[in-house]
Amino acid sequence: MSEKRKVLLCLNHLGGREIDFVLKAFADNWIVPLGPDVKAFESELEHFIGGDRKAVALCSGTAAMHIALDCCGVGPDDEVMVPTFTFCASVNPVVYLGATPVFVDSEPSTWNMDPALLDTAIDARVRATGRMPKAIVAVDLYGMPASLDAIAAVAAKWEIPLIEDAAEAFGSSYNGRRCGSFGRFGVLSFNGNKMITTSGGGALMCADSEQAHRAMYLATQARQGYAYYQHDEIGYNYRLSNISAAIGRGQMLVAEEHIAHHRHVHALYRELLSDVAGLTLFDNPSPEYDSNFWLCNILLDDSVRVRGRERAYTAGIQGVIGGAAATTAETVSVHTDCEPSVDVEALRLCLADEGIESRPLWKPLHRQPVFAGAPAYISGVAEDLFRRGLCLPAGPWVSDDDVRFIVKLIADSIE
Ligand SMILES: Cc1ncc(COP(=O)(O)O)c(C=O)c1O
Repeated sequence: MSEKRKVLLCLNHLGGREIDFVLKAFADNWIVPLGPDVKAFESELEHFIGGDRKAVALCSGTAAMHIALDCCGVGPDDEVMVPTFTFCASVNPVVYLGATPVFVDSEPSTWNMDPALLDTAIDARVRATGRMPKAIVAVDLYGMPASLDAIAAVAAKWEIPLIEDAAEAFGSSYNGRRCGSFGRFGVLSFNGNKMITTSGGGALMCADSEQAHRAMYLATQARQGYAYYQHDEIGYNYRLSNISAAIGRGQMLVAEEHIAHHRHVHALYRELLSDVAGLTLFDNPSPEYDSNFWLCNILLDDSVRVRGRERAYTAGIQGVIGGAAATTAETVSVHTDCEPSVDVEALRLCLADEGIESRPLWKPLHRQPVFAGAPAYISGVAEDLFRRGLCLPAGPWVSDDDVRFIVKLIADSIE
């Protein structure tokens, strides 16, 4: 009997050379942070991202965001402008620093922060608080570049530093410039489900050496220049280990291959889904935007009816089949007051029955109970996307045959 197909949303792939770098690091006894592979990995990242950015390799993308916000001087009682449509890691470090996130809705074309609404929201915050927000976080969600020129223009107008969260956009570009190279800081993630992985890690891409130096200092416990440990400030233990950097160096050898594969998978979905009525595949809105298509996402028209919709939301999630969410708290109800449509959930179940992992889009953060009460400037775009959207598998393990199988399953699931 043939084994049942199992396709995960986005699982990383080792190219084969990672082990050579790791063995060399072991042989040289470089298992601590700050070894030669960290330095080499940083210069490879600088070369890849371009724009004269200085890289600081860190233990996660979340840590990179934390350090970036700290370097922008964010502290208690400050406000930081953030998109509502993103993963919580873009925003949690704002709260770690005692500041308040101010949520801004998405534009329909890129699904990312709406630059015009950002401008309106900053104006409203300045009037409401009498103070300028301390930073702006723009996210390139699912690999799609945000409208970075327009957002940078708003940041320049108000003289607020911009941080680009390019955790999902390694290899994407905007107007020919690589994501992660915009603003004062760019955040990268090398988590296990990202375009390249160090098994867990991240990097902060800094506009100049001075910022990079400050970031490195904060990431290594903010130690002063004495033989003994002297501290004027609170720092963090956030540097990447040399072993993780060694894995990253191996991954850099296959980065372009991974990016090309994600784009190939997306192009195949585009071709095959064009025959399926009622679905829209998320795509580059115009030539300035060049997504890496980290995940491939579809939107269901409201007219679409999916088979088995009556079993949607009848049971909670019984564990996860992959991805980063290894542990979840027990749920008290199968419903929340903001959730994907019954047809999106029914489609997810139809795919899961056949071993295909799919996932709803990121839930807008202004609808997360943990952020209730935070100021939010909302047009309804993100909530509509969340209600109608589903992420489909896209990683290096997804074959052409898998894509054909998935598209046929989707077509057959629609009534
Ligand atoms: C948009 C976004 N920002 C930040 C992060 C945080 O990265 P990490 O998991 O490396 O902490 C992630 C991924 O996990 C992400 O998807």
